[in-house]
Amino acid sequence: MNANPIQEFRAWYAAAVDSKKIMDPTAMVVASGKPDGSVDARVVLLKQVTDVGFYFVSNYQSSKARDFEANAHVAVVFHWDALEQQIRIRGRIAKAEAEFSDNYFQSRSRDSQLGAWASAQSQVIPDRDALSHALTEVRDRFEYQPVPRPPHWGGYCIQPDAIEFWLGQPHRLHDRFLYSRVGDSWTCARLSP
Ligand SMILES: Cc1cc2nc3c(=O)[nH]c(=O)nc-3n(C[C@H](O)[C@H](O)[C@H](O)COP(=O)(O)O)c2cc1C
Repeated sequence: MNANPIQEFRAWYAAAVDSKKIMDPTAMVVASGKPDGSVDARVVLLKQVTDVGFYFVSNYQSSKARDFEANAHVAVVFHWDALEQQIRIRGRIAKAEAEFSDNYFQSRSRDSQLGAWASAQSQVIPDRDALSHALTEVRDRFEYQPVPRPPHWGGYCIQPDAIEFWLGQPHRLHDRFLYSRVGDSWTCARLSP
């Protein structure tokens, strides 16, 4: 195992892509906590990994955004079934720097950009027509001009405190390696399956 879990993640991710067995290795479950002690979880797509952390994009007024504001502690799970691999991350989440959000928004298709304006993610809506009307309205509003990034949309970065790599092995004697952050460096321990 690499001394740095981000490098280890990159190696596992590259192998998952190369295997062509995982339909979307960027899919990860992000779990969050609410002020009343209850929890929630949802799938999002990993957009970038740096030495700082794991990035995805979302709506800053969604249900998850309210969770993150109240409690920055999150947990993440990647499950790559065909490879018998799981990667678990615990850490703290914060809005990504505006530069990341702007660059990623600009790389999206125009339709996806308009969709970000049209969707008040996690709000109750009466029917599908409400979405279509919202899309028509923003399409008209930004006709013949670039679509700016909505203020309610952008990236999040999860800064890891712990990362565990799990690899299926015979007789259920699986391998588990838990990295824990200690200051600026990491320790790595093997856990019993
Ligand atoms: C495969 C898949 C990928 C998704 N990717 C994202 C994503 O990158 N960002 C996002 O905000 N929601 C994404 N979603 C939708 C979320 O799972 C969720 O429904 C939405 O973000 C609202 O969650 P919330 O109400 O907890 O805020 C994805 C869903 C699926 C099934």
